[in-house]
Amino acid sequence: MGAAVVRFLVALVLLVLVLAAVGECAYIPYNTSAGVVEGKLNVHVVPHTHDDVGWLKTVDQYYVGSNNSIQGACVQNVLDSLVVSLLKDENRKFIYVEQAFFQRWWRQQSDMIKDIVKKLISTGQLELINGGMCMHDEAAVHYIDMIDQTTLGHRFIKEEFGQIPRIGWQIDPFGHSAVQAYLLGAEVGFDAFYFFRIDYQDRDTRKGTKELEVVWRGSKTFGSSADIFAGIFPKNYEPPPGGFYFEVNDKYPVVQDDPLLFDYNVEDRVNDFVAAALAQANITRTNHVMFTMGTDFKYQYAESWFRQMDKLIHYVNKDGRVNALYSTPSIYTDAKHAENEPWPLKTNDFFPYADNPNAYWTGYFTSRPALKRYVRVMSGYYLAARQLEFFKGRINSDLTTDSLADALALAQHHDAVTGTEKQHVANDYAKRLSIGYTEAEKLVSSSLSCLSQSGSKLHCPSQPTNFAQCLLLNITYCPPSEMDLSQGKTLVVLVYNSLGWKREDVLRIPVVSDSVVVHDSEGKEVESQLLPIANASLYIREKHVKAYLGTLPSAKPKFWLAFPVSVPPLGFNTYFISSGKKSASVSLVSTLYPSQGSKNSNMQIGQGQLKLQYNAAGELSMYSDSKTMVEANFEQKYKYYIGQDGNGSDPQASGAYIFRPNGTVPINTNGQVPLTVLRGSIVDEVHQQINSWIYQINRVYKGKDYVETEFIVGPIPADDGNGKEVATEIVTNMATNKTFYTDSSGRDFIKRV
Ligand SMILES: *[C@@H]1O[C@H](CO)[C@@H](O)[C@H](O)[C@H]1NC(C)=O
Ligand SMILES: *[C@@H]1O[C@H](CO)[C@@H](O)[C@H](O)[C@H]1NC(C)=O
Ligand SMILES: *[C@@H]1O[C@H](CO)[C@@H](O)[C@H](O)[C@H]1NC(C)=O
Ligand SMILES: *[C@@H]1O[C@H](CO)[C@@H](O)[C@H](O)[C@H]1NC(C)=O
Ligand SMILES: *[C@@H]1O[C@H](CO)[C@@H](O)[C@H](O)[C@H]1NC(C)=O
Ligand SMILES: *[C@@H]1O[C@H](CO)[C@@H](O)[C@H](O)[C@H]1NC(C)=O
Ligand SMILES: *[C@@H]1O[C@H](CO)[C@@H](O)[C@H](O)[C@H]1NC(C)=O
Ligand SMILES: *[C@@H]1O[C@H](CO)[C@@H](O)[C@H](O)[C@H]1NC(C)=O
Repeated sequence: MGAAVVRFLVALVLLVLVLAAVGECAYIPYNTSAGVVEGKLNVHVVPHTHDDVGWLKTVDQYYVGSNNSIQGACVQNVLDSLVVSLLKDENRKFIYVEQAFFQRWWRQQSDMIKDIVKKLISTGQLELINGGMCMHDEAAVHYIDMIDQTTLGHRFIKEEFGQIPRIGWQIDPFGHSAVQAYLLGAEVGFDAFYFFRIDYQDRDTRKGTKELEVVWRGSKTFGSSADIFAGIFPKNYEPPPGGFYFEVNDKYPVVQDDPLLFDYNVEDRVNDFVAAALAQANITRTNHVMFTMGTDFKYQYAESWFRQMDKLIHYVNKDGRVNALYSTPSIYTDAKHAENEPWPLKTNDFFPYADNPNAYWTGYFTSRPALKRYVRVMSGYYLAARQLEFFKGRINSDLTTDSLADALALAQHHDAVTGTEKQHVANDYAKRLSIGYTEAEKLVSSSLSCLSQSGSKLHCPSQPTNFAQCLLLNITYCPPSEMDLSQGKTLVVLVYNSLGWKREDVLRIPVVSDSVVVHDSEGKEVESQLLPIANASLYIREKHVKAYLGTLPSAKPKFWLAFPVSVPPLGFNTYFISSGKKSASVSLVSTLYPSQGSKNSNMQIGQGQLKLQYNAAGELSMYSDSKTMVEANFEQKYKYYIGQDGNGSDPQASGAYIFRPNGTVPINTNGQVPLTVLRGSIVDEVHQQINSWIYQINRVYKGKDYVETEFIVGPIPADDGNGKEVATEIVTNMATNKTFYTDSSGRDFIKRV
């Protein structure tokens, strides 16, 4: 009997112990309330997701989570699950970046969710940073487009939440421009700017000298007034080394802290965390390091991350070697600032970006050139359309430029204008631009109709003139200018100047007839010139117009009509084209080589200050400028680079992102084809069939001091199995001492040696 009682007591004691253990570990909430602690290494745990506004899938496919066989990514899941997770613990924090996704999601939320999210944003638990529609590229974009797409996102954030983003977060673009630092950073009002893609050698050096965090002075003009604190991540924008990825299907060990279950590992995981923190502290100034907890399209079930981060923060702080806290880049920036540490100075930019000896990310500077051009053309058009929208008054019309603005914003994404997206995604960007253009075109037409018929007061006619616009001059297609003028009809050409200064330019439109005359708005005849349209251009026209219309229009243009126009700033001018006497202005055509008479003699073109000289072999050999008195050698050649196929000892292939040539091949024209020379009172042209797939036109205008080169390249033959990057090379004898200048987002030049 006595023995039985003892056995019972033992069982009872064990039971109580187990209960106590369960109580302590599983039912007391994790303590995640830590803030910054002086005198300790502070690990700023920054939960984030990086959601590309189109890449392997389109922006909408990413948003709704369709086509998951291409990539398992659904941004709706991220935002939906985030709200729930943030509500579970007020210490949890998150940053969200891409407004294109956020706005899609916001439109679909109930008032209840909107109220919750507004509160999360006002308390700083959820912070909208960077704040543009997308995370724009910094190499292939124009600065005006960067500003516009940032404005669209920021305006929404301000109107909806009364907030202005404080932090630039350009974590993925492939290199970083000076214009980004001073214009889209400091001038936008950001307090800091974070990223990671810089040259691998530069990064290694900076780690050794603790110079990954700097003050970046991107502008020589603005100097220190446009300085910005710039933080470069030590490795990438993902969690630190040591296995801290916690998506549902990630393979790293979660924190197992329940002693009732097998594989308890709290100590191990705390040690991993502390080791990662010390390693990063070793290359970082001050007692603050940032852990970027997330990567592409993560947090689709946000709780799977927060659950682990709660535990890590709790146990790491209990351990006490370092202090871990839920943080944001804003909190991190403030902590850095409070340290009063002097930061090293960085000038110029971070181009080109290489992440390996054979991986220079310069391929994307030229990938998908047709999309790049389309974005640029639409950007210029948007500027003009927006002005016309304003002149007419936005309230007077249900037509807007909004859809074009939105399409352009998406196109600035670092997998859009860069050309690194999949084909169906490139098509999606082009489709959006096309839809936006179609709407803006109607607005432009109706606005011009009002402006052109108004005196001092805006007057919109009840039957507005329809101004057709010629977007397809690139394929020599402009239906209104190709009309038959013989029945006394007049073609009215309205030229609008969206820039803030007067412009004098030469306009060219395709026409059918060889007897046309141009008058200005005062009835004075304007000098004009007809240039026969090159066969190569007509071939392109037929191919594309047929594909586009299904049939060819009956009229076929034969000439480019070129005439000088003069347009006031933010204004327009009107020209009238009608049938006239058979024009004497048709360009004189001559063929230079190989023609008997011209052997052994040079040929010169240019009627004004600038002249080009071709030698007897038909090669460009010299230029002269009578104003600057410069006369110098000037050769222009075509060649192509062969792309590495990735089968070498270093398997890095050349491609959309990376340019890695394996040799160059000159494209020889010598003696193969004749030059055709067109001369006239406005412009001289030299046409040259370089080979069967390259056609080139060089133009010298009488009134200009530059040469204009137009080329038609393609289809590029690939039957030899080699990838080809076609290039043109200009050789001069200028003493440059290896110094040259490259463009920075259309706003600056950066000196390079
Ligand atoms: C939670 O941790 C913070 C600092 O890490 C500490 O100040 C606070 O007292 C802790 N709270 C509880 C309930 O243990
Ligand atoms: C994406 O999914 C839709 C519908 O499921 C399908 O029609 C389409 O072909 C898919 N697109 C791609 C690029 O796979
Ligand atoms: C810190 O850096 C030194 C010098 O580069 C290196 O020897 C040491 O292993 C590093 N310590 C950590 C914890 O990474
Ligand atoms: C001509 O421009 C239009 C739009 O501006 C573009 O869609 C089209 O691809 C271009 N055509 C060619 C042959 O490059
Ligand atoms: C252009 O095409 C026309 C008609 O096909 C032909 O007669 C002419 O020789 C061609 N010109 C050139 C320069 O190839
Ligand atoms: C390179 O390797 C790929 C895949 O192994 C193969 O398909 C291709 O033919 C190879 N190219 C050359 C030029 O050997
Ligand atoms: C580079 O080109 C050479 C021939 O010029 C070829 O033998 C070699 O396989 C190429 N290597 C790669 C990696 O493309
Ligand atoms: C050429 O540039 C180097 C530095 O890049 C400079 O030291 C040298 O003086 C320059 N030479 C001339 C002739 O300008």
